[in-house]
Amino acid sequence: MSAGYDVERWAAVHALPTYHRAAAGARTAPCGTPEHPLPLIIDSDPGLDDALAIGLAAASLEFKLLAVTTVGGNADVARCTENALRLLHAYGRDDVPVAEGAAGALLGSIVRATEVHGESGIGTTELPPAVNTARPEGAVALIARLLAESPEPVAIAPIGPLTNIALVLRQYPHLISKISHLCLMGGSIGEGNYSVSAEFNIAADPEAADVVFRSGVPITMIGLDVTHQALLDRAAAQALRGLGTRSGVIAAELTDYALDRNLEWSGSTTTAIHDAVAIAHLMVGDLVAVAPYYVAVDTTQGPARGRTVCDGLPYRLRRDGRTANADVGIVIDGGRFEQLLLDAFAKLP
Ligand code: RIB
Ligand code: CA
Repeated sequence: MSAGYDVERWAAVHALPTYHRAAAGARTAPCGTPEHPLPLIIDSDPGLDDALAIGLAAASLEFKLLAVTTVGGNADVARCTENALRLLHAYGRDDVPVAEGAAGALLGSIVRATEVHGESGIGTTELPPAVNTARPEGAVALIARLLAESPEPVAIAPIGPLTNIALVLRQYPHLISKISHLCLMGGSIGEGNYSVSAEFNIAADPEAADVVFRSGVPITMIGLDVTHQALLDRAAAQALRGLGTRSGVIAAELTDYALDRNLEWSGSTTTAIHDAVAIAHLMVGDLVAVAPYYVAVDTTQGPARGRTVCDGLPYRLRRDGRTANADVGIVIDGGRFEQLLLDAFAKLP
């Protein structure tokens, strides 16, 4: 969700402290290859940028895409589920199961971003009907079953609110060792987008995010600091449309819808494809530079609710007896990111 941002100004205002740039470069996330595809589950609230993220994963031989599970966020969860089913059908990936998860936060609140993504969650795009339906076992049970059944640990890419992930961690603690990595889109070192403090995915369920960041599971946090460097413009949307495929047209329509919103709200001529950065980080080893941080989630009811408080200063961590609990995205090569999306969508029907 990038409502109301002049991205260029935002990026300048949020120039990261130099010591983080110095630390950037290390990574703990696994990286899939065509020779050893990474087992991957995407938990999502499709969602304009979710749709491009799912397309990137669906097209890429670097992944063994085990499932797409849904959570309420950009739109109501039923819409997100239907969107996931229809997107996978459009991308030629009816082999990938979909299961529906939480409608709202652990504590019951419902936070939506339909002003950004439209009531449907995918702007004004009409997708062909899906041939599959959602698995009756639901998102949490499906994730648990896939973790249990996988011969190797599974990466999970949460690109919506973290409610389903928190429920898996709480209900199936014995399966935590089967999660190789959580590469999540959410949070920010600097300002939020849902509020001045909180990025949308964290703001929608801070208690769930708190469970996740305290879990000890290896985490990469792809926050707004890096996703606001992963920008598409009209020319990129036109290049997607120029692929001449159904998937390319879908991606172009979704991108144009997001561009229209940003232009209307802030005069910006670009849109951040937040969620696709989390997928890209798991398939290209040197695209996103990260640095180790201790990330804590503000779960108070005050003005900082939902803020990811990110401390990466080694001296302070030593002083306070803390160790980093996440790699946090710092820098991305926006040009390579755009080309990665175009190359991926060129492989889709
Ligand atoms: O803040 C960006 C996040 O919020 C993305 O996941 C987008 O899809 C929205 O859910
Ligand atoms: Ca999302």
